[in-house]
Amino acid sequence: MDADLVIRNLHVSIGEKVILKGLNLEVNRGEVHAVMGPNGSGKSTLANALMGNPAYQVTEGEIWLKGQNVVGLAADQRARLGLFLAFQYPSAIPGVSVANFLRTALNARAAGQGEAGNGGRGGISMRDFRQQLKEGMEMLRMDPGVASRYVNDGFSGGEKKRLEILQMALLKPEIALLDEPDSGLDIDALRIVAEGVNRLVGPTLGLLVITHYQRILDYIKPGFVHILVDGRIALSGGPELALELEEKGYDWVRE
Ligand SMILES: Nc1ncnc2c1ncn2[C@@H]1O[C@H](COP(=O)(O)OP(=O)(O)OP(=O)(O)O)[C@@H](O)[C@H]1O
Ligand SMILES: [Mg+2]
Repeated sequence: MDADLVIRNLHVSIGEKVILKGLNLEVNRGEVHAVMGPNGSGKSTLANALMGNPAYQVTEGEIWLKGQNVVGLAADQRARLGLFLAFQYPSAIPGVSVANFLRTALNARAAGQGEAGNGGRGGISMRDFRQQLKEGMEMLRMDPGVASRYVNDGFSGGEKKRLEILQMALLKPEIALLDEPDSGLDIDALRIVAEGVNRLVGPTLGLLVITHYQRILDYIKPGFVHILVDGRIALSGGPELALELEEKGYDWVRE
């Protein structure tokens, strides 16, 4: 059977610039994959192209999500199919509170699941939402005041990263792409965020974690590590690959 996420011969351009040059990768629910690679190798491009960011043009290849080729589908349609992206650089949405943003996202997701035949019309009740929000924020040790602030507006780097994981906790995606969830986090925040992600890992979630450093992989243990160099997966292996990379750098992969 095909994997839940199948990426085949993916070519992606930004304007005239070709970034991904024939990338292949498969992710199943229940698996944790790490993608590492030098700055500018195309990791965020991969994440954005998978999510359907229109600035990233797929010029060749396929992206299959649970048996459906999603190239051409809008980001919100992909989200309804259970795909989620935690951004490397989350954007601020002035005027929209965190609570409103999350509730809207949850209702949109529930509507999508309804279309899939699970009921779920009217969306989530305020009571259930408040409860889930509270649990998520406690898990990530977030200040309760964050819920009424505008999304990412004036947030510290660490607060932004926690909000990304809070979204994931509430939306319960089937395939989650985390683009450097560890960047900008202090030592304690890294542990809290990683433990939060870990509690979401399980047989119903496939995880693709983009990172530069082994330290987050001490918490979120990948079964598979892939090294992206110049728009292609140059090398794949087990968790030992991340350790080897830490030791030797990227030159030996390029060779
Ligand atoms: N809007 C854009 N216009 C032109 N080039 C872009 C644009 N966005 C990204 N690029 C280029 O695409 C290449 C890949 O960028 P990408 O963000 O995918 O790298 P990355 O592997 O995520 O790097 P990092 O580890 O620094 O986050 C880089 O050379 C980058 O400059
Ligand atoms: Mg990046």
